[in-house]
Amino acid sequence: MLEFKSISCFFNNEKIVDTVSFSVGKGEIVILMGPNGSGKSTFAHAIMGNPLYRLGNDAVIAVDGHDITKKTTEEKAKEGLFLAFQNPIAVPGVSVTKLLREIQGAQASGTLLKDVRSYAQSFDFSDTLLSRGINDGFSGGEKKKIEMMQACFLAKKYALFDEIDTGLDADALRAIATSINALKKKNIGCVVITHYLRLVDYLEADKVLVMHKGQIVKRGTKALASLIEKEGYEKIVKVKGKNEKIPKK
Ligand SMILES: Nc1ncnc2c1ncn2[C@@H]1O[C@H](COP(=O)(O)OP(=O)(O)O)[C@@H](O)[C@H]1O
Ligand SMILES: [Mg+2]
Repeated sequence: MLEFKSISCFFNNEKIVDTVSFSVGKGEIVILMGPNGSGKSTFAHAIMGNPLYRLGNDAVIAVDGHDITKKTTEEKAKEGLFLAFQNPIAVPGVSVTKLLREIQGAQASGTLLKDVRSYAQSFDFSDTLLSRGINDGFSGGEKKKIEMMQACFLAKKYALFDEIDTGLDADALRAIATSINALKKKNIGCVVITHYLRLVDYLEADKVLVMHKGQIVKRGTKALASLIEKEGYEKIVKVKGKNEKIPKK
């Protein structure tokens, strides 16, 4: 199980995420929704160790009972955590294939290349895309597919996807959802950050959490996502007065 306990995240000493706690079981899909600016990306970056953010002193991140809170990003990745970025950076000169090969170790076998090609086919992108610098001039949708592809190859235990669905056409969206559902089948726990129902609809989601102003204000199942689609966030989160405590559960 991947556990987040009392996660607060600070940016420039401002508290952006406020004592967020939830867990992700093996093979579970947890959806994290919430309006723009609610702190979803900050949460994902802070727990992976992005130096822009500081975790609160009480924060605990545990992978299968093993506390990894204080570990470096690289160590967290080695412990089996993978984050797909909302805005992946370009790395001119390092191709997708080269990256995967490097990370998977020297076994630059034909098998890896074959897997990469078959994956590329399922996503309908060409071999040439794979030999270009990562995200170098890629379209928004291509970047997202490349993030998903890395998750499929590199996620070992748990994966976090930050708006993997933004900018995708209908076919790509379905392909991404199929890939996440396939990770679930491989017993990998996934946190899927999104604010659209369309992706949630395709996913075999187990839990839906709603973040608002840095706190989890609602917990539910897929029905909660449908309700948000129908009624909008404002009604669901019932925006509280500034000093009013929002109940944890
Ligand atoms: N690197 C940053 N620079 C400036 N503001 C930031 C930064 N990271 C987070 N914030 C602020 O934190 C809040 C939450 O942002 P974010 O985590 O991106 O929300 P979400 O992903 O839910 O849309 C916003 O008000 C945003 O402006
Ligand atoms: Mg975001």
